[in-house]
Amino acid sequence: MRKPFVAGNWKMNTNSHSSVELVNGIVSGSSEVAGEKVHVAVIPPFVYLQCVAKALSTASIALGAQDIYYEQKGAFTGEISASMLKDIGCTYVLCGHSERRHVIGETDELVNKKVTAAIAGGLLPILCVGELIEERKASKTEEVVTRQIKKGLAGLSAEKASAVTIAYEPVWAIGTGLTATPQQAQETQALIRKLLGEIYDSELAGETRILYGGSAKANNAAELMGQEDVDGLLVGGASLQADDFVAIIQAAV
Ligand code: 13P
Repeated sequence: MRKPFVAGNWKMNTNSHSSVELVNGIVSGSSEVAGEKVHVAVIPPFVYLQCVAKALSTASIALGAQDIYYEQKGAFTGEISASMLKDIGCTYVLCGHSERRHVIGETDELVNKKVTAAIAGGLLPILCVGELIEERKASKTEEVVTRQIKKGLAGLSAEKASAVTIAYEPVWAIGTGLTATPQQAQETQALIRKLLGEIYDSELAGETRILYGGSAKANNAAELMGQEDVDGLLVGGASLQADDFVAIIQAAV
């Protein structure tokens, strides 16, 4: 049984005060269900990870980082390693978020190195995949997502791949208010699960959590998560208001 998983990606938002205020609101609003009935994670900017970790110390909410570098240490100015993230209490790390792929220019090969390094460092990667609007219009969604998953998981044994959560985030739905319909999300996520069965086996495919992301909100969360292969949500904008995010968490129960 896959327990629902709701994660809030704060992207480049909040400050030292508002990050703590936000997480405190999420903790108090979700304390009856978080951990017990639904896995919850918050994913603040690097610089606020520690103050958020402190605020989470007695809560059943996990901490995640938005990115990672694949080397362990050394002369990599500006980068953050798996051991650093582990050291300050991170459990999860996003790998290959569409904004990193399409704004910063990350390749599938780089994303694969990050996923591999995250697992080696004891973190649980959330591998993000999803097609651009022109790719969807050209009926290339399956081709793009298949390539991103195959390359993102390249070289990983089934045992290692079992640490991975997949997030399907169609790029055209991110921050646009244009949510994929529950049927569109289900269709692609069923394909992803089938692909995991082909690359690995039916056990891994059945156990892997596949999240949907892209303008997920309190008013569409229940219907999206009601789909068989939508095991939870990776939420951007609506995770920045405690009440909105708590309502999404409640919708998973
Ligand atoms: P929005 O929920 O703001 O569309 O962002 C989705 C996302 O990119 C989460 O990682």
